[in-house]
Amino acid sequence: MVSLSAAAVTTTTAATRFLPASTASATSLSYRSSLSLSSASARSSPLLSRLVHSQKSSLRRFSTGRIGYSTVSSPKCAASSPEQLKSAREDIKELLKTKFCHPILVRLGWHDAGTYNKNIEEWPQRGGANGSLRFEIELKHGANAGLVNALKLLQPIKDKYSSLTYADLFQLASATAIEEAGGPKIPMKYGRVDISEPEQCPEEGRLPDAGPPSPASHLRDVFYRMGLNDKEIVALSGAHTLGRSRPERSGWGKPETKYTKEGPGAPGGQSWTAQWLKFDNSYFKDIKEKIDEDLLVLPTDAVLFEDPQFKEYAEKYAVDQDAFFKDYAEAHAKLSNLGAKFDPTEGFSLDASQPEKFVAAKYSTGKSELSDAMKQKIRAEYEGFGGSPDKPLGSNYFLNIIIVIAVLALVTSLVMN
Ligand code: HEM
Repeated sequence: MVSLSAAAVTTTTAATRFLPASTASATSLSYRSSLSLSSASARSSPLLSRLVHSQKSSLRRFSTGRIGYSTVSSPKCAASSPEQLKSAREDIKELLKTKFCHPILVRLGWHDAGTYNKNIEEWPQRGGANGSLRFEIELKHGANAGLVNALKLLQPIKDKYSSLTYADLFQLASATAIEEAGGPKIPMKYGRVDISEPEQCPEEGRLPDAGPPSPASHLRDVFYRMGLNDKEIVALSGAHTLGRSRPERSGWGKPETKYTKEGPGAPGGQSWTAQWLKFDNSYFKDIKEKIDEDLLVLPTDAVLFEDPQFKEYAEKYAVDQDAFFKDYAEAHAKLSNLGAKFDPTEGFSLDASQPEKFVAAKYSTGKSELSDAMKQKIRAEYEGFGGSPDKPLGSNYFLNIIIVIAVLALVTSLVMN
């Protein structure tokens, strides 16, 4: 049964209070509240059926050859194009301005990537950022309760761009949400390939529990399996500066607090911070103080100030937001790449300010990917004579060499005579 809590929330004051100034001022603050589904309802919801139907329609359109969709079940899950990703990013920004769905989009990206197991080499068995979370079987995992709402919000954007993969869309939406909430710029790359069948989804149980018997060792078990370290565990936990926990979804948190009873978005739940649509370091400040009954501290949050190794980072982030932003941006980018298969193999960036992608590998077609050490060596050799592996050398470069050799030969023959 779907519970549509569609109270038309007057959010003008609430949204202004929660959003970073830049977003709040640019936003029309009068809107209708969004959908809210309980985990049980999601399992049998018409909404989910509609999504599945929409995904199946994409397949039918592909197989009849009328529209070249590369979506959920298309035979070739090619990677996204940079132009379409950039347009999709603008659409996501608009979505954020009207739905205030930053937190759930971050959680969606994290739950798609966080199934990665570094001990499994094969793709997609290793899990990770491969778009598997669009399939009903994975959405039904207990840890993913409520995430069908995030998929529903993104599906129209997916339908609009024929080349966009779900894997890229989920990570694009998450990184854009962090940035739009006032967080750091994430050095993202794109080109993730989608899995094509629900049978390729990871088994249930790869994501962390909020209340395990030994929170520190549980976090290490789960995050080390993803190839992440203590610093990254603490930095990534800082994403809980955004959003709320809802008892009807995860079983954690209060039904509502003074910070959540008016939304924005569907009201209710318990947030970790007072301004739960603003990305900053208040998560670390608030869980350290633990003085506000209305703010949530999960056992896996509390342990960040109890375990000696975690504590070192948590204390630092509580007093130094710049350090938190720097480490968060790096850890988020790493998380977003876990388990992903990229096409092209090295992925590509959407922002010119980031280093140009390395293309020397294309000259070694048929050979395995060059190691990072080898790429660095080749780059250093190119740069040694003023070139770059990303750009072909100018033809006059070779002309200059010929002239130098000719002059040397002439000088030598004159000297000898
Ligand atoms: C460290 C282990 C983690 C545990 C045990 C955990 C657990 C939870 C739980 C229980 C919720 C509430 C879900 C609900 O009731 O709707 C939640 C929400 C959330 N989580 Fe985590 N989480 C963890 C790590 C992360 C990481 C690494 C990220 C992102 C990088 C993240 C981002 C979020 C966000 C943004 C929400 C709010 C979603 C919303 O408001 O709809 N979490 N998490």
